[in-house]
Amino acid sequence: MVEVRASRDRTEYARALNAIWQYFSPPPAEDALDRWLSWVAQDRMHAAFEDGEIVGGAGAFTFEVTVPGGPLPCAGVTVVGVYPTHRRRGVLRALMRAQLDDVHARGEPIAVLWASEETIYGRFGYGLASWCGDVTIARDRAAFARPLERRGRARFVSPEEAAALFPPVWEALRRERPGVHSRDESWWTGRVLRTPDEQKANPKRLVAFEVDGAVQGYAVYRAAVSFEAGVSNSKLEVVEAIGANAQATAEIWRFLLDVDWMETITASLLPPDHALFLLLASPRRARYRRGDALWVRLVDVGAALSGRAYTGEGAVVFEVHDSFCPWNEARWKLEGGTASRTDEPAEIELDVDALGSAYLGAVSFAELLNALRVEEHVEGAVARADALFAWRPLPWCPEIF
Ligand SMILES: CC(C)(COP(=O)(O)OP(=O)(O)OC[C@H]1O[C@@H](n2cnc3c(N)ncnc32)[C@H](O)[C@@H]1OP(=O)(O)O)[C@@H](O)C(=O)NCCC(=O)NCCS
Repeated sequence: MVEVRASRDRTEYARALNAIWQYFSPPPAEDALDRWLSWVAQDRMHAAFEDGEIVGGAGAFTFEVTVPGGPLPCAGVTVVGVYPTHRRRGVLRALMRAQLDDVHARGEPIAVLWASEETIYGRFGYGLASWCGDVTIARDRAAFARPLERRGRARFVSPEEAAALFPPVWEALRRERPGVHSRDESWWTGRVLRTPDEQKANPKRLVAFEVDGAVQGYAVYRAAVSFEAGVSNSKLEVVEAIGANAQATAEIWRFLLDVDWMETITASLLPPDHALFLLLASPRRARYRRGDALWVRLVDVGAALSGRAYTGEGAVVFEVHDSFCPWNEARWKLEGGTASRTDEPAEIELDVDALGSAYLGAVSFAELLNALRVEEHVEGAVARADALFAWRPLPWCPEIF
C-alpha cells in the first residue's frame, strides 16, 4: 500500500529527491540538497512511502510562467522518480494524485513540465504544448543571409557580474514569450551560472553583450577544444543565448558562430520561430530536429482560460473531459476573455490534455482535429477557436527543469 504526502524534514526530502537522483548518481550531497531546498520548498516535495520506506518522489517549483498576455502562477513539476524496484505498481499515479490536488488547493491554475518520455503524462491531463529543437552548425556554413551591422560589443563576465547583468535580459524575454518561467537569485547562481564539479575542466563561459554600456543580451556556452591530424575539430555548445531585442539576438549569435577553432556550434531547445533560422544564409544546414518541449496541465480550467489573452473577439463552448481532475468536467464558454460554466450546447468536445496543448498557442485546434484529438460539433467552431487562441511569438522555454 502506497502512501503519499509532502516531505516533513530534510531527511525525507533527500530520500524523495533520491528517487530520481539514483538513476544518475549517488545520493545528493549536502550542498546539492541546500540548493534544491532553495528551489523546491520542502512542502512541495512529495514522497511516496511503502512499509515506511520512500520509494518515489515528485517536486514542484513555485514560479510564474508566461502565457499569452502575461505571467501566471504555476507549478513547475520536476524531479519525478520511482525506484526501479517499485515501478509499474501505481506509485507515480499516487504521486500525481497528491501533487495535482496540492496544486489545485494552492490556486495555481496551471502546471507545466518537461517529460523524460512523451508517453507518461497525457493520462494525467498534461498536453504537449510547445516544440523545440537542436541545431548543429558547421562554422564554415554559419554566414548570415544579410550583412550585420555591429552596434555593440561582447565581453566575458564573472558569475557574480553575470548574476547582476543577465536577469534583466531574461525579464525582457519573459515579457514577450509564452513558456518562459521566472527565475530568482538562487536559480541564477545555482543553476544557470554555476558550473557543476564534473564540468570544471570545461567550465561555462559567460558573455555579456552591451550597447553603449547597457546589457542587451548574453550567452552561456562551453567550448571543448580538440585537434585531429593538426586540424581543430573543437565544439562549442551554446547553453543559453538570449537577446533583449532583435539586434542583440543577432549580435550574440554572430559572436557564438565566429569563435575561432570551433568546427561546429550546437544549441538545443530552440523554438521553431527562433530568429536564427532567418538570420542564417543556410538554415537547412543547421539540421534542426524538432521535439516536444513544455507540457501544460490546466489544473483549473476556468482560471487558466480566463488567465491568458486572446487575439480576437468571439465565443466558443468547449465540453471538457477530465477524469483525473473531475472538478474541471463541464461545458465551458469562453467569451470576452473569460471562461465560465455553461449549459449551452458543446461546439468543441475534447480531453483536458488537448486543451492544454492548445493553451500556449503552439498547437492549433485544426491540428488537434486532424489528429483526432478533438470533436467539432458545430461547423466552423474549430476555426473560431483558432482565431481566438493563435499567438505569436510561439512558446519557448530555454531551459529544461
Ligand atoms: C516514469 C516513472 C516515474 C513511472 O513510475 P511508475 O510508478 O512505474 O508509474 P505507475 O505504475 O504509477 O504508472 C501509471 C501509469 O503510467 C504508465 N507509465 C508509467 N511509466 C511509463 C512510461 N515510461 N512510458 C509509458 N507509460 C508509463 C503505466 O503503464 C500506468 O499506466 P495506466 O494508468 O494505463 O495503468 C518511473 O518509471 C521512473 O522513475 N522512470 C525513470 C525516471 C523518469 O523518467 N521520471 C520522469 C521524469 S519527467
